[in-house]
Amino acid sequence: MSLLRRLSSVLVTGGAGFIGTNFIKYLFRRQDFFGRVINIDALTYAGNLFNLKDIDHDFGGSRYFFEKADICDRAAVEGIFDKYEIDTVVHFAAESHVDRSILGPEAFVRTNIFGTFTLLDIARGRWDGQDGVLFHHVSTDEVYGSLDLDGRFSEDSAYRPRSPYSASKAASDHLAMAYYHTYHLPVTLSNCTNNYGPYQFPEKLIPLMIMNMKEGKSLPIYGDGKNVRDWLFVDDHSSAIWAILTAGVTGEKYNIGGENEWENRKIVTALCEITAAALGRPSDELVRLMTFVKDRPGHDRRYAVDCQKIQNELGWRRQVDIHQGLIRTVSWYLNNAEWIAHIRSGEYREWIEQNYARR
Ligand code: NAD
Ligand code: TYD
Repeated sequence: MSLLRRLSSVLVTGGAGFIGTNFIKYLFRRQDFFGRVINIDALTYAGNLFNLKDIDHDFGGSRYFFEKADICDRAAVEGIFDKYEIDTVVHFAAESHVDRSILGPEAFVRTNIFGTFTLLDIARGRWDGQDGVLFHHVSTDEVYGSLDLDGRFSEDSAYRPRSPYSASKAASDHLAMAYYHTYHLPVTLSNCTNNYGPYQFPEKLIPLMIMNMKEGKSLPIYGDGKNVRDWLFVDDHSSAIWAILTAGVTGEKYNIGGENEWENRKIVTALCEITAAALGRPSDELVRLMTFVKDRPGHDRRYAVDCQKIQNELGWRRQVDIHQGLIRTVSWYLNNAEWIAHIRSGEYREWIEQNYARR
């Protein structure tokens, strides 16, 4: 008999965003997932239903359902909980970009803190005493703050968030664990390092750089470019979440990482080489586009996590090596002009023009 949890009616919040989209596709690729997915998303600038056209075509109305709703809207979310008899929540919906959080923190406080509270509170009310239910809260390693050259964050590291984004995520993590301890809501929590891969909104480092290279625009590197991030291909994040959903222990948190640290200037140089090869251009031409610009305020120097717990306890391993992952990502962005045109329309274009034109 399998001891793995079964997922029947899975509420994915923020499923039209980068990781949520990839996670839904991952679920439907698995031969051992037989449940249905209810994607709830407010479709902010970062959400794009275009991402899931294939899933909607294959499973829409039978095993895949989309509900446009704001996670802060209690009545709407309660209605969705009841309509679909939700037994699993995978909570991705968030405002996710540090630079935007510096320019306008309010939306981060609202969605990341109040929205998470609303979901937790509804799950608590709807699942009172029910077996087999789980609320998985998706979070970031940024809650731990900034590291110098040495050391890695463990699950026991203190929270020291330093941007409005990471502070709002830290608050949401605390609420999730508080609902576990106070109300016995079955909660798991993961803190993951920087993801990359298809469907990432091109305001984040990797897709922004690929798109700027394609268009011959400058590649803005903040500060001295020596800030370090640990990169994980998005499908490896999905498989880690799957491991937690099916075998994780409630009340536990798990770090997820790529064990793959890069200085920003070095990963951008690697991207220049891969993109140049794909475009049939000399890499020097792209490397010359790298431009060191004013640093991000409060820019965290380095993130790195120790992810032995999920490896040892749940048997999770990263599958995609960074070189292969970057080649796949570059190729996806170069071959998906229609997607790029779509997400560049509307609010994103206006925001880019207001905030990046001066660089
Ligand atoms: P994203 O910005 O690409 O997508 C967020 C999605 O949430 C969008 O579809 C948006 O429309 C939706 N959304 C925003 N506000 C909402 C609201 N009030 N109600 C309903 N939907 C709303 O983000 P992402 O990069 O896919 O990140 C997903 C989650 O993973 C976030 O919780 C983030 O903190 C976490 N995370 C991200 C990374 C990363 O590298 N991107 C790393 C670790 C953890
Ligand atoms: P980002 O993708 O915004 O993720 P996060 O801030 O959550 O880590 O940025 C990754 C790193 O790249 C971070 O150190 C900031 C830096 N960066 C640049 O140097 N230039 C850019 O244009 C962007 C968007 C980020």
